[in-house]
Amino acid sequence: MAYTVPKLKDFSTSTLTMAFVDLKSAFQTETALPNSEAEWKQFRDRWLARKNGILTQINGLWLKAAPKEAKSEVGKLVNDVKRFVEQEFAKDRDWAIAASSLAQTFQRIDISLPGICRPIGAEHPVLRASREMCAVFQRMGYSIAEGPVVETDYYNFEALNFPPNHPARDTQDTLFIAGQQSKPQRERLLLRTHTSPVQIRTMEKLPPPIRIVIPGVVHRNDPPDASHSPMFHQIEGLAVDTNITFGDLKGTLDHAMKEFFGSSVKTSFRPSFFPFTEPSAELYISCFICGGSGRRGSDPCRPCKQTGWIEALGCGMVDPNVFEFVKDNGYDPKKVSGFAFGMGVDRVALLKYGVDDLQLFFQGDVRFLQQWA
Ligand code: DAH
Repeated sequence: MAYTVPKLKDFSTSTLTMAFVDLKSAFQTETALPNSEAEWKQFRDRWLARKNGILTQINGLWLKAAPKEAKSEVGKLVNDVKRFVEQEFAKDRDWAIAASSLAQTFQRIDISLPGICRPIGAEHPVLRASREMCAVFQRMGYSIAEGPVVETDYYNFEALNFPPNHPARDTQDTLFIAGQQSKPQRERLLLRTHTSPVQIRTMEKLPPPIRIVIPGVVHRNDPPDASHSPMFHQIEGLAVDTNITFGDLKGTLDHAMKEFFGSSVKTSFRPSFFPFTEPSAELYISCFICGGSGRRGSDPCRPCKQTGWIEALGCGMVDPNVFEFVKDNGYDPKKVSGFAFGMGVDRVALLKYGVDDLQLFFQGDVRFLQQWA
């Protein structure tokens, strides 16, 4: 039976005490009943409603009706009970809301249904090619080195034997950081155009012998098309020791190309020019798509432009002028020699995965990228 406020027969202390004990125990019984926020609100209104809530009723039926001599005792008891009930509501409120929203959640979720499967990401094909190529060299004892993308003119050009105003700088289509004119040229900042500056940075830190590969992002002022992008990726390599020869360079790169593209790939070294290597070469690999024939059935082979050969990277023996910049760290050009190479990873990834448009790598289309998942 729901509690109703009784009229009091008299206002003796024992009657009052009994009445207040009943009231409190009714309240405590009712506190445990609400099962939803709506029920809890109903319960709260039953007790606190200004118009006809239980607390208002005891004000009328008990306090107002009390004779003069009992008023102060009844008033004190009524105040105690009000404070008690109001405190209990303040305490229970958070709990009641939490309990009811939990109950509603369980009504909405059918925990026997299979969950929503969120796709986990996949390694980007360019980064995967980069990692796999680095791993080929790591298996030959090379370590990984890295350097900053925003670089100084000194590391990107000067210490790599590009003299100021030398025409070789023009081939790099450099993107310069604005507002650097007041600095001396070697301190001006730019977006590195190749990973070669990390050769110098590493040789400044580590004395010879050294064998490193350097993966990283580079930038050039090239408009985007099927084979160009203003942002692309390179892997640089550097080996310095006593008595490193061009034969070491050829053997190392021939092995790496066979490991990466397949053991039937042949290599060919053709003379070239880079300011930081002497002699310099371009490494070509036999086209692993047409097997070197230049044709696919009756069609011309596009990746090798029907030549049967694909340009893979630039390389050469480290120019003694480069060692001069790090001579104080043990790189005396009379005592050490070395080779270096640099390759475009995006190109390598295009070839390896048979993709015909470089832009696909950078457009973020999940349907394309999830092929590597
Ligand atoms: N840095 C050159 C470029 O981006 C590539 C390169 C060529 C790197 C020859 C080398 C090298 O280390 O020896 O065009």
